Amino acid sequence: MNEPWWRSAVFYQVYPRSFADGDQDGVGDLKGLLTKVDHLSDLGVDAIWLSPIFPSPMADFGYDVSDYCGVDPLFGDLDVFDEVLAAVHDRGLRLILDWVPNHTSIDHPWFKDALTGPDAEHRDWYVWRDSAPDGGPPNNWVAAFAPVPAWTRDPASGQWYLHHFLPQQPDLNWANPAVEAAMHDTLRFWLDRGVDGFRADVINCIGKDPALADAPENLAPLMHCVLNDEPGVHPLLRRIRSVLDEYPGDRMMIGEVALLDPHTVAAYYGDGDELHLSFNFMPLHGPWRADTWRANIATTEDGFRAADAWPTWVLSNHDVPRHRTRYSRWPHEPVDAEGSLQRTRAAATLLLTLRGTPFIYQGEELGLEDAVVPAARVVDPGGRDGCRAPVPWAALPPHGWPTPSGIEPWLPFPPDATDLNVEAELTSPDSVLALYRRLLAMRRGSRALQHGTYEPVDAPDGVLAFRRFDAESSDERMVAVNFTDDAASVEFDNRWDVELASDDTDTTGPFDGKLRPRQAVVLRRAAG
Ligand code: NOJ
Repeated sequence: MNEPWWRSAVFYQVYPRSFADGDQDGVGDLKGLLTKVDHLSDLGVDAIWLSPIFPSPMADFGYDVSDYCGVDPLFGDLDVFDEVLAAVHDRGLRLILDWVPNHTSIDHPWFKDALTGPDAEHRDWYVWRDSAPDGGPPNNWVAAFAPVPAWTRDPASGQWYLHHFLPQQPDLNWANPAVEAAMHDTLRFWLDRGVDGFRADVINCIGKDPALADAPENLAPLMHCVLNDEPGVHPLLRRIRSVLDEYPGDRMMIGEVALLDPHTVAAYYGDGDELHLSFNFMPLHGPWRADTWRANIATTEDGFRAADAWPTWVLSNHDVPRHRTRYSRWPHEPVDAEGSLQRTRAAATLLLTLRGTPFIYQGEELGLEDAVVPAARVVDPGGRDGCRAPVPWAALPPHGWPTPSGIEPWLPFPPDATDLNVEAELTSPDSVLALYRRLLAMRRGSRALQHGTYEPVDAPDGVLAFRRFDAESSDERMVAVNFTDDAASVEFDNRWDVELASDDTDTTGPFDGKLRPRQAVVLRRAAG
């Protein structure tokens, strides 16, 4: 069977500021990434999603782009980028870039020109409107990060420009064909260099209601990016897809569709002619509970099946607290560090056995929690510093982040960095890192886990069980996840052997139906 590579791939998100520091200035960069490509290839992932590296004033840490066709000097230059891409490809991995199509930075030459006045060549490249009759913003849309209007008034012209995010991130006007053509060219720039695709930032926002009508009153307090779902986005996506299709080699795009209902999200795959994949963010916002997960998986399977779309799964990213942190606090039962690591290990087992493409966020393979960031070191306007802490590579401070002047990295390290770091975890067969390696190797070796169907299986309260089956190869796995802090018993048809247990390396052989607290197991059919 000839499946596109991104269906069986496991992606790994690199947030470059915090991954590895090659030039020893306390901020991660491409040289640093270059030295760690082997970590990713040894881990067993297939593809890297690299968060933005483009020139940027960094108001939103790279999601405010001032040049789509370059590399910010903080991260390196195009030559180092080419080295990274070659190193990734040499190891048989793929690399996708983070494309930010909805907005530029206010420092982008297009916006600087737009600001010169209503007759500027690039004025209509952004979304401008006159004041509402009361002199306020043109509509009731709310920006992300702070509950403020999604509009900023330009004192010179008296008009307002739209920004779904910070005022430093003006929205592009994709209804203008010149914008569309210029943005297509930015894709071609990187495709020509050989990238394998893109993660497209808040792609749902590029289609705008031509009337820019008010949001319904009951929803209006929400940041408008989670409401923005316009039919006009679909022709735009089809034409973006055509650009990717101009290139050989299965280039792909995963969209950040910032909408929560999987039925709506699935529509962004079109008839197989829009996005190749889309994020599915339900798990980022739900608790670690069997019933919630069972329902989320059912809704995803249902919504995506209707559109013949391939699902994706993610537990953490650079925008939300890490799942170890989320699953250790309210509404979850208090748990000690060991218990919290066990929940994390069970969650990893779930992530890597579900039907769909998994995305790992850097450092989750180490079991990291969010850093505690003192007020004096807070830098992100969206309150997301904790999950963006530097990855500890070595046990001893500065954990692989030395600087000649001894300055600390741009954010503090996560807790327990002397135990939870790559160096220490590589030598321990019981580490979270060792578990991720086992899970990834197991997934790679199983057609059922990579491509098979998902069938929910009856299990007691607090336990999620499902069967994965690939008819072509008859490969089959059963997965059982005990979300509770108590032991549980399950009964399955047929006899099963334990292939992997989330909490230790010794549990193998026949499965006796017993699950330890916070334990997940992957089972294969017993012979005979
Ligand atoms: C989504 C990105 O993941 C987030 O980090 C960013 O702040 C917004 N889009 C705006 O680009």
